[in-house]
Amino acid sequence: MSQRPVDDAGWRALGGEPGMMALVADFVDRMISDPIIGFRFVGVDRDRLLRRELEHASEILGGPLRYEGRPLAAVHRRLGIHAGQLRRRLAILAAVGRAHGADPVALAAWVEADRALGPFLIDPGDCHG
Ligand code: HEM
Repeated sequence: MSQRPVDDAGWRALGGEPGMMALVADFVDRMISDPIIGFRFVGVDRDRLLRRELEHASEILGGPLRYEGRPLAAVHRRLGIHAGQLRRRLAILAAVGRAHGADPVALAAWVEADRALGPFLIDPGDCHG
């Protein structure tokens, strides 16, 4: 679903697999325990979500891992996610990245790739405000 970057500079700038594993683990844990969007993840297998998010980020950032999860639009459309919940995810990702001292250019590329994907995942009936 994402367009592949020409090289793995973004993935390497964010610490390769060990750095990204730590970052994505914090990201997933922050989403799951978040007062605004945490309710969405009740009953979701945390370790499986972590693996799939890591693979997906690898595709965005030119890393070696390939996404092995389900098609994201199908998974998310049935959840009825609102634009505000997507914005919350993006804010958490940016905050976790900064907390890890992540390279700002690579982090911004990741956040923007997620933002661009958003309209395909959120509830088409939402006001997108
Ligand atoms: C561009 C934005 C997003 C990306 C890249 C993304 C990525 C992912 C990935 C890779 C999975 C795993 C799919 C699988 O298990 O096969 C997933 C599942 C999930 N996502 Fe997202 N997500 C996004 C936005 C959101 C938002 C905004 C929410 C809600 C606040 C959300 C809630 C969930 C939930 C609840 C699941 C588990 C669904 C299930 O296991 O049935 N996602 N997401």
